[in-house]
Amino acid sequence: MQFNRTLITAALPYANGAVHIGHLAGVYVPADIYARYMRLKGKEVLFVCGSDEHGVPVTIRARKEGISVQEVVDRYHALIKRSFADFGISFDIYSRTTSAIHHQFASDYFRAMYDAGQFVEESSEQFYDPETGHFLTDRNIRGECPRCHSLGAYGDQCEKCGATLSPDELINPYNAETGNALAKKETKHWYLPLDQYQTWLEDWILKQHKEWRPNVYGQCKSWLDGGLRPRAVTRDLDWGIPVPVEGADGKVLYVWFDAPIGYISNTKELCEAQPEKYGNWEKWWKQDDTRMLHFIGKDNIVFHCIVFPVMLKAQGYNLPDNVPSNEFLNLEGDKISTSRNWAVWLNEYLDDFPGKQDVLRYVLTANAPETKDNDFTWADFQARNNNELVAIYGNFINRALVLTKKYFDGKVPACGALTDYDKATIEEFKNVKATLEELLENFRFRDALKEAMNLARVGNKYLADTEPWKLAKTDMDRTATVLHVALQIAANLAVAFEPFLPFSSAKLKQMLQMDEAIGWEDLGRIDLLKEGAALGEVSLLFEKIEDNAIQGQLDRLARIKKENEEAAKAEALKNWRPAPVKEMTTIEDFDKADIRVAKVLDCQPVKKSERLLQFTLDDGMGGRTILSGIAQSYPDPSVLIGKQVLFIANFPPRKMMGIESQGMILSAVDADGKLVVTTVSAEVKNGSQVG
Ligand code: 2FM
Ligand code: ZN
Repeated sequence: MQFNRTLITAALPYANGAVHIGHLAGVYVPADIYARYMRLKGKEVLFVCGSDEHGVPVTIRARKEGISVQEVVDRYHALIKRSFADFGISFDIYSRTTSAIHHQFASDYFRAMYDAGQFVEESSEQFYDPETGHFLTDRNIRGECPRCHSLGAYGDQCEKCGATLSPDELINPYNAETGNALAKKETKHWYLPLDQYQTWLEDWILKQHKEWRPNVYGQCKSWLDGGLRPRAVTRDLDWGIPVPVEGADGKVLYVWFDAPIGYISNTKELCEAQPEKYGNWEKWWKQDDTRMLHFIGKDNIVFHCIVFPVMLKAQGYNLPDNVPSNEFLNLEGDKISTSRNWAVWLNEYLDDFPGKQDVLRYVLTANAPETKDNDFTWADFQARNNNELVAIYGNFINRALVLTKKYFDGKVPACGALTDYDKATIEEFKNVKATLEELLENFRFRDALKEAMNLARVGNKYLADTEPWKLAKTDMDRTATVLHVALQIAANLAVAFEPFLPFSSAKLKQMLQMDEAIGWEDLGRIDLLKEGAALGEVSLLFEKIEDNAIQGQLDRLARIKKENEEAAKAEALKNWRPAPVKEMTTIEDFDKADIRVAKVLDCQPVKKSERLLQFTLDDGMGGRTILSGIAQSYPDPSVLIGKQVLFIANFPPRKMMGIESQGMILSAVDADGKLVVTTVSAEVKNGSQVG
C-alpha cells in the first residue's frame, strides 16, 4: 500500500505532574525525531499530542495539593506544553482533553457505538466507601499485597514487588484517601466486548504485523493467547466526560476510552482552525492512503494495539500501521516515579542546564530503551556530553571554523586537488543518507544517532590526521583543501543531526551561513558550501559539564531517596492494621511447639551475612546457639545481651553459613517491617516453658 501522508501520535501525558526524562526518552524524542525526519523528506505529516486530563491520577494530585482538579490540569497542562516546546518537540498541535471540542467528540463517539449496539451492558459488585458513598477505582484502593505482604499496595499493582493485582486480591482493602474499610455495591457499566474481536485481532496483529517491535508483538500475543474479555469503558466518578445515555447519572467515560479519541479530536481542532494548511481532519483518519503511527511507552501497548483499534474498527476509522513502543528508562537504578519525585523534571533540568536541550536529547537517544529497560545515570550524561558531543562533534566543528577564520579570513577556502586520503574520507560518508534513512524508517533511533555521530568522528579524525594547523606553516594550498573538505563535512553534520539535535543544527547552520535551501536530500554531497562564502560568528557548539554540576544532581537524588524512605515508613505506620487471625487451631497443636525462656549471653552479626545474628543462650539446659534473620532490625545487637528471650526449643537443628542453629527466637513484626525480639518482663528461670 502506497501512503501519501503520515499521522504521528504521541501518547497524551497525564496532566498530573511535570514531564520527565522517562517521558522524553520513551515517547516524545523518538516521535519528534521521526516527525522531523518526515518533514525534512518533504512528506506530508501531522504530529498530534495533548494533555490527558481525566482519570484518577489528576484527581489524586488535586487532593494531595489541596486544590481543585481543574486547577491541577490547568497548571500541569501549561507546564507540560511549555516543556515540550522548550525541548523542541515539534507537535503540530498540543491540545487537551478538557477542551469543549474533545468532550463533544468523545461523547459522540461513545453514543455512536452505543447506538450501533457495540457495547455490552452489565451490572456487577464493585468496591465502594460506605462513609463517602463513592465507588473506588483500582488506584484509589489500597491494602496489603497478597504476594509480598507489604502494606499500601494499590488495587492494580504492588509497587514493592511489582505484582499486577486486582482489588479483590488485596488483604484488608481500604480507601486510600479516607482510610475507611470498603464494602461492595452493585453498579451498571458499559463494556467493550473485546472477545468478539479476538479472531480479527489475531489476524490483524499476529499475521499482518509481524514487523512490529518484538516487545509490542510479544505483549499483544500474550494478551491474545490469554483470551480477551469484555472491558468496562465507563466509571463511577465525578471527573470526566459524562456517559451520554439515559440512566448513567454519576458515570463518566473511562479515561482510556476518551484519551485516545483525543488524537482524533485534536486533529479535528487543528484542521478546523487551519483548513488550508492541514485539510479536512477526516483525510487523516479515514483515508486509506494515510498511514498512522502511535509512539507510546510499554505500559500503553494494550490500549493502543487492542482496545483503541477495536474502537476504531467499530466506527470505520484507520488502524495504526505501527506502534513503536519503548521500554522504560530508570533513573540511577530505580524506577522513575512521579509520585515519589524520583525523576529528572524537564523544567528543573533547564533551570540547572540552560540551553542544553540537545545534550539531553542526545543522551536519551543514545541510551534509548528501545529493546530493553535502560538506566539514566548522571555519570553517563556527563561522559556522553564531555567525551562525545564536546570532544568529537564540537571539537571538530570548532577546529574547522576557528582555523578557517584564522587562515582564510572566515571564508570557505578553495578546494585544490584531492589526495587519496581525502577521497577515502569522503567515501566514508557517501552512504550516510541511505544508512540513516534505513535506520530511521525502522524506528532504530539509537543506531541512527550513532551513524550521525560516526560522521562527526570521520571529520574529527580527518583534521587530527591532516593537521591543518601544521600544514599552514608550509603549504597554504593544501591547508585550503583540507579546511574546504572539513567545512563540507561540517555542513553535512548540520543536516544529518537535524532530526536529533535541532537546536545545535540551527546554530551550526547559522555559523556556516548555510543556504536555507540545503536539506536532507543534499546529505552526502561535498559542495554544500561555496568557495569564498563567508562564515558567520563562531562559538562553541557544546560545552564541557563540570563535576560539581553532576554532584549537585546526585545530592538532590540522595535527598529525595531519604525523604521517600521516611515517607514510606510513615505511610506504613499510618495504614497498619493487624493481620487477620489465622484459622482456628487446638491446644494439642499449640502444645507441640516447645517454647522456652533463655538469657542472651552474647549476640553477634554472622560474618558475610546481611541478615543473620548469632545468639549464644543460657537455656538452663547447658546452653545453645540460635541464628535469627533479624540483623537489619538490630544495627547494634549488643542491646539484646542480658535480656531474657523466648525461643522454640524443639525445631530440628539447621545449618546456615556453616553454623548450626538450634531453634528459633520469637520476634514480633512491627508496622514498618522491623522485627522486635520478644523479651520477658519479669525474671524467670532459664529453660522455663511458656504455655
Ligand atoms: O500513560 C499515560 O500517561 C496516559 N495518559 C497515556 C494516554 S495515551 C492516549 F491514549 F491518549
Ligand atoms: Zn507485593
